[in-house]
Amino acid sequence: MASTVPFSPAKVQMLQATNCHGHAPFGSCFAVPRTGPRPRSVAVRVSSEQEAAAAVRAPSGRSIEECEADAVAGRFPAPAAFVRPKAPDGTPEIRPLDMPKRPRRNRRSPALRAAFQETTISPANLVLPLFIHEGEEDAPIGAMPGCFRLGWQHGLLDEVYKARDVGVNSFVLFPKVPDALKSPTGVEAYNDNGLVPRTIRLLKDKFPDIIVYTDVALDPYSSDGHDGIVREDGVILNDETVYQLCKQAVSQARAGADVVSPSDMMDGRVGAIRSALDAEGFNDVSIMSYTAKYASSFYGPFREALDSNPRFGDKKTYQMNPANYREALLETAADEAEGADILLVKPGLPYLDIIRLLRDNSALPIAAYQVSGEYSMIKAGGALNMIDEEKVMMESLMCLRRAGADVILTYFARQAAAVLCGMGSAAK
Ligand code: PBG
Repeated sequence: MASTVPFSPAKVQMLQATNCHGHAPFGSCFAVPRTGPRPRSVAVRVSSEQEAAAAVRAPSGRSIEECEADAVAGRFPAPAAFVRPKAPDGTPEIRPLDMPKRPRRNRRSPALRAAFQETTISPANLVLPLFIHEGEEDAPIGAMPGCFRLGWQHGLLDEVYKARDVGVNSFVLFPKVPDALKSPTGVEAYNDNGLVPRTIRLLKDKFPDIIVYTDVALDPYSSDGHDGIVREDGVILNDETVYQLCKQAVSQARAGADVVSPSDMMDGRVGAIRSALDAEGFNDVSIMSYTAKYASSFYGPFREALDSNPRFGDKKTYQMNPANYREALLETAADEAEGADILLVKPGLPYLDIIRLLRDNSALPIAAYQVSGEYSMIKAGGALNMIDEEKVMMESLMCLRRAGADVILTYFARQAAAVLCGMGSAAK
């Protein structure tokens, strides 16, 4: 007969925590306490094969009828007397609230919480942005700890290899272009032997099954640091820029890009790029449109990474006003009508309402871009021990999924995928 051990509250809590066979969303179950006698009236998670074997009694060879006869005759030890776990001294003695609905019931154990979790995230949902340059060595990016301008022939391949190891198969390329190749019209953007097409060919050769996304915009190639061609009076020319973007997208498709992603925010570029791709026979190349891209200060670290700050002014005549919500619906309607395959919202966490807006107003897949500033803030907070970097990283990604994002572009892709694979912070 099991003794009724009066547990201290701490002990009860510990046993409840171990009384599970499910796994916590991103973590493992707590370890079973190995010291002291295990109270037999409490089902405890067994943690080793030895313990599992010890917990199961060997069959005695008796028939079902004999076992049933025991039950009918009541030949089993009586259950232990029921004892309510004690609350600390001084806890007010009250009548429980008359309350039929108690949402906490569904949260009371790891197994229940896991069973009713509404949103999940997997490495397949993550896209890793990669900065590439012509150099052979990888160069750290000051404002983005853990990120590098990768040598396209060496460091890049290593990074892709490691990402694939934890289930990340999608990558988006951002080139750091030598100043000498920048020009007012960004012609280097459609050089078939430029850094991006060269890199796509190499990646596709080494890893044929990965998904290569590209960025379509002139800023890395523009001597003005703008996404489009700048007229003498500072106006960013729309249709002339779209003409260049079409050439850029076709050049990327020719090199083997799977998804071209216009991030420039010119009007009409999705339709024009679709026609240009189709005219060249690239009907199978997808377009991920930056549908709602805001003129955000969260892009600061990225512009340092690529040395792509606008040489004058800002991007407010083409990127959206962060104060606007309805306007995202106009962009959504246009991109859908023009043939976009995926709609992207950028930045991510400060724009969850926009992600949800697009999710509710389009049947297309939605992408969210957790941008450089979001990444760097979490890294900085972690480095200063102000927040738990890994937990905040996972929470921020889960929240983007909850808001409605199918895929997330994030500099955390490899680190987060490692966590999801149970490899902890191995990829930090
Ligand atoms: C430019 C581009 C930017 C980013 C992606 N593509 C910067 C900008 O619009 O100035 C920002 C990404 C980030 O901050 O992580 N076409």
